[in-house]
Amino acid sequence: MYSYFTLARKYIYYWFTSSNNKGHGVHSPFVFDFITSILNDKKEQPPFIIIEQLRSQLYKNNSFIEVEDFGAGSGLIKSNKRRIDKIAKSSLKPKKYAQLLYRIVQYYKPETIIELGTSFGLTTAYLAKANETSTIFTFEGSKSIANISVQHFKELTLNNVNISIGEFSSTLPEFISKKPSIDFAFIDGNHRKKPTLDYFKQLLPLTNEKSIIIFDDIHWSPEMESAWNEIKQHPSVTLTIDLFFIGLVFFKNDFKVKQHFTIQF
Ligand SMILES: C[S@@+](CC[C@H](N)C(=O)[O-])C[C@H]1O[C@@H](n2cnc3c(N)ncnc32)[C@H](O)[C@@H]1O
Repeated sequence: MYSYFTLARKYIYYWFTSSNNKGHGVHSPFVFDFITSILNDKKEQPPFIIIEQLRSQLYKNNSFIEVEDFGAGSGLIKSNKRRIDKIAKSSLKPKKYAQLLYRIVQYYKPETIIELGTSFGLTTAYLAKANETSTIFTFEGSKSIANISVQHFKELTLNNVNISIGEFSSTLPEFISKKPSIDFAFIDGNHRKKPTLDYFKQLLPLTNEKSIIIFDDIHWSPEMESAWNEIKQHPSVTLTIDLFFIGLVFFKNDFKVKQHFTIQF
């Protein structure tokens, strides 16, 4: 990954070169609507409170669990004991982004959602609460982490979540072999170039004109930036929105030319 200093420099560059979050100067009606109806909607919604209570509990939980560590790359599995609060602080998507994903799902109502990288299931919970008629398929490699997420799904009485436990390299192809249509995907598991591009290519045949794929940490490392640049150039991709910590990919075919937006968030 980039050093903290490089990342901060990149973030400052992003902030001063991106379109402002009022939508000024954004000529795409679709993106203008995205900014005004979703990005800038800061209302607290009822499920936020209960999901954030779970986050606070995780932050205070200093017990250890045995975790299969997949690292940034796929394949290598070394097991070690790690503290729950430390895992929660380092790997969960902050509420600002999880709540944005909630609003995206609430607005576009995708039917089938996948999440690669469940961790303790907080972002999964946001996705599931945003539209209770969506079905969420979430994937996690570490059994002990997945068990905690399952506990959270029970506490929140989420009936629209299915979790697959195991290495993505076996659980994802198994899921894909059933040929589901994928309307929304959040790729937040394995922050390396090759696996990221592999997931993208595996999901692509299952996408449709309304699908949205969101990649986490697109500027986190040279590898992730390179993966993001390749994804942007892919012929099936018609629109991308770079929010620095996440990148959104759209496939709508009513855009005449490919467009890339970088927007303050
Ligand atoms: C960044 S966390 C996910 C955070 C979660 N999406 C959230 O926002 O709360 C990534 C998770 O992916 C899992 N993971 C990473 N690489 C994996 C792989 N190759 N196979 C299975 N699970 C993997 C890790 O165990 C970790 O729990």
